[in-house]
Amino acid sequence: MILNKKQPAANAKKRNLVTYLYPDSFISDQFRTIRTNIRFITETSNNKVFLLASPGTGEGKSITIANLAASMAQQKERILLIDANLRSPVLHTIFKLPNSKGITNILKHRVPLKEAVSRTEIGKLDVLTSGPVSFNPAEIIGSELMQDLLKTAVKEYDMILVDAPSVLEFTETRVLAHYCDGVILLFKRAKTELEKASEALRVLELAHSKIIGAIINDK
Ligand SMILES: Nc1ncnc2c1ncn2[C@@H]1O[C@H](COP(=O)(O)OP(=O)(O)OP(=O)(O)O)[C@@H](O)[C@H]1O
Ligand SMILES: [Mg+2]
Repeated sequence: MILNKKQPAANAKKRNLVTYLYPDSFISDQFRTIRTNIRFITETSNNKVFLLASPGTGEGKSITIANLAASMAQQKERILLIDANLRSPVLHTIFKLPNSKGITNILKHRVPLKEAVSRTEIGKLDVLTSGPVSFNPAEIIGSELMQDLLKTAVKEYDMILVDAPSVLEFTETRVLAHYCDGVILLFKRAKTELEKASEALRVLELAHSKIIGAIINDK
């Protein structure tokens, strides 16, 4: 799947959530294709928790997963989007949500998931933002409490999408990949080096994660 750089219209570009604001655009159509492909994979399995990973930083993971979640939520499914990137969390900014509660409140202070998530105006999409940023992200995100959080979320939602930091630069992403049912790899055209792409594949395989597909960001 290739996200075309000529789309969307200038206004939508500013606003980021193209799939919500401009559902008839070409780019929203591309997200629907990704959504359909994921659905084919999940139809025959109980897989619900997916991580979007890329080898490096700034390759477009957060903007892509936000749009994918918004696209999925328009189909009446209960979607939870989790910002597990405590290194540089941005989902609260994209969805214009407060970030005073989130993952860190659950993992450090045992706040229940229901109290830590933020509702959005997009279908049944909830976002679990990072919460107040912490000093030891690898330890927090890699902990068994994070695995418990995902197990709880599975009972409440039809699909859980997880945003995380670069898989090559930060070890917690590998642990997260292991906790998730599947991993979607994202590469940025003309930025992600082939060597880094294959290294990312290798570390994810070492983490026994199931790679279900890849997205090329053509921005
Ligand atoms: N396809 C795209 N269309 C519009 N903007 C994009 C696209 N891809 C990336 N960007 C922009 O590039 C910047 C980096 O994207 P983003 O934050 O999604 O990357 P990331 O991989 O999540 O970064 P990090 O590794 O720091 O978490 C953002 O300003 C984002 O809006
Ligand atoms: Mg990001």
